[in-house]
Amino acid sequence: RVLVEATEMIGVFDSGYGGLTIFRELIKQFPEHSFVYLGDNARAPYGNKTPEEITEYTKQGVDALLKKGCTLVILGCNTASAVALRELQQKWLPITWADRKLLGIVVPTIEQITETTSPISVGILGTMRTIESHAYKHEIQKRNPNIFVYEYACIILAGIIETLGSKNTEVVHEAQKSVQALLDVAGSGGGTLDAVLLACTHYELIADSIAAVLPNATKLYHQPSIVAKSLADYLQRHTEIDSQIDKTGKRIYLTTGNPEEVSQKSTDFIGETIAFELLQIPTTLVSP
Ligand code: DGL
Repeated sequence: RVLVEATEMIGVFDSGYGGLTIFRELIKQFPEHSFVYLGDNARAPYGNKTPEEITEYTKQGVDALLKKGCTLVILGCNTASAVALRELQQKWLPITWADRKLLGIVVPTIEQITETTSPISVGILGTMRTIESHAYKHEIQKRNPNIFVYEYACIILAGIIETLGSKNTEVVHEAQKSVQALLDVAGSGGGTLDAVLLACTHYELIADSIAAVLPNATKLYHQPSIVAKSLADYLQRHTEIDSQIDKTGKRIYLTTGNPEEVSQKSTDFIGETIAFELLQIPTTLVSP
C-alpha cells in the first residue's frame, strides 16, 4: 500500500497586512499545520475598489496560493469575503480547482455574534465595500431579527494603516474618529452599542487604540480567535482535508509588494521577525 504523503498547506489571503492578524492566531492554534500567507500589498487597499476588481484580484491571489500547493485557502479579509467569496465559490472554484476549498471569515463571525444571547445591539466598522454589501447587517438580522445592527464605513483607515503603520498618530486619530462616528450612528438611532465588531482585519492591528475609546460596557469582538475556532471545527468535520495537510509547521510569507518593506512593517505590526518573499501574480489566469 502506497501512503499518500501529506504535502499540502493552508493558505491565508488578504489585500495586505490585515490578514496577518488572522494568520498569527491560526499558527498559534495549529502549531503543526503548515501555512502560507499571501498579502496583495502591491494593490492594497481593496476596500474602495469596485466589486469586479475585488473579485478579480481575490481570484488571482487565491489561484496563486492554490498553485503553491494549498488544499484550503481562507480569505483573511472581510472585503474579499463579503464581496467576492460567493461568486468564486460558485462559479470559479468548481470549474478550475474542483478538489480545493475556499473559506471566508464573514460567516463564522456572524455565527459567533448570533449564537450568543447578548448582544442586542452591535456596531460594525468595515471598509466601504464591506459596509456597502450589508453582508453583516443582513445576515445577522436574518439569523436573529432582535439584534440591532449599526454600520459605519471607514473609507481611508485600512489604506493609511498600510502606508503609515499602526503607531502613527494620524492612524490612531482616524480610528478613534470612526469609533465616535459609529457611536453617533447608534445614538441617533436611539441606541447604545453592546458590542463592536472590527469587520476589517487591518483594524485588529490597532484594536487597542479602538478599545481605548469605546464605552466600558461595550464588548469588542476579535475575529482572529473566532476564525481559529471555526477552522478547528472545520478540520474536525473534514478529516479528509486535514489528512492532506503537511504537519511540519512550515510558515511561508508571500507578498506582491516590496518584500523588504513588507517584512519590516509586518515585524513592527506583529512584534516578531517575519521575512516575506516576492510573489508575482500573473494578471491573466491560466488553468492548472
Ligand atoms: N483587511 C481587509 C478587510 O478585512 C481589507 C482592507 C482593504 O484592503 O481595504 O476588509
